[in-house]
Amino acid sequence: MNSLLNIDNLDLTLENTSILRDISLEINEGETTAVIGPNGCGKSSLAYTIMGLKDYTPDKGEIFFKGEEISGYSIDERAKKGITLAWQEPARFEGVTVREFLSLGLKSRGEQVTEKKLARALREVAIVPEKYLDRNIDETLSGGERKRIELASILIMEPELVMLDEPDSGVDVVALNNIGNVISDFKKENTGVLLITHSEEMLDFADKAVLICKGKIIKKGNPGEISEYFRYECTPCEDEDYEKHTKQEVENVG
Ligand SMILES: Nc1ncnc2c1ncn2[C@@H]1O[C@H](COP(=O)(O)OP(=O)(O)OP(=O)(O)O)[C@@H](O)[C@H]1O
Ligand SMILES: [Mg+2]
Repeated sequence: MNSLLNIDNLDLTLENTSILRDISLEINEGETTAVIGPNGCGKSSLAYTIMGLKDYTPDKGEIFFKGEEISGYSIDERAKKGITLAWQEPARFEGVTVREFLSLGLKSRGEQVTEKKLARALREVAIVPEKYLDRNIDETLSGGERKRIELASILIMEPELVMLDEPDSGVDVVALNNIGNVISDFKKENTGVLLITHSEEMLDFADKAVLICKGKIIKKGNPGEISEYFRYECTPCEDEDYEKHTKQEVENVG
């Protein structure tokens, strides 16, 4: 398996607060790596740093995409290289229809827009194309519907790396199974997935997992192992305990 994303010793500070500390992780082509951790531990910040959002410039560390260091690239340049992000809170686009939104993805790749391609992407996320293609992406769609449509827009772009920021939040069980199907589709296309979540159920869809606590990776392993650790041993801790805890854990992680 070829290496797709390599993050080495990444530190991020936002407004004088240390957000990510010494993060190292790797995603191979066609592989799903889950990042799990409690609220506020830095999961979304990690995705934003990989995507290159404004202010999310690392203080230290390197991000390699297919062997090339990308920290100096803009969001657009990273997107052109095939890096995509499905937001935790999907955007609303007043006056833009589902059809137009999905078409943008195809056009950006120089592909012809056909009804078949649009419909196929929507069906993948359990959205009935006939009912939704001409609807606006605004407050008239539910949060779960917008999340699924955003996932369809990423599928259609056939990215090399996709970061899914809590794809399970606000979606029902049917859609949850669909996320599993979408991840299998990405695997078939050899796309790497960074799956961000704070629910253990999602780890079933991953090949590898890392547990982040307060901006630091405290454990890496197979999803079953990490899921169990998260369930039974990852309890809220005071700063002092945390430092004790991470010193031991981090040494083991290496
Ligand atoms: N611009 C900012 N300035 C200062 N602190 C920030 C900024 N953005 C985020 N943070 C802080 O960084 C920490 C990590 O936030 P982040 O959104 O990455 O967490 P998360 O793991 O995605 O949480 P959740 O599970 O709730 O989505 C939080 O404590 C948050 O308050
Ligand atoms: Mg988040």
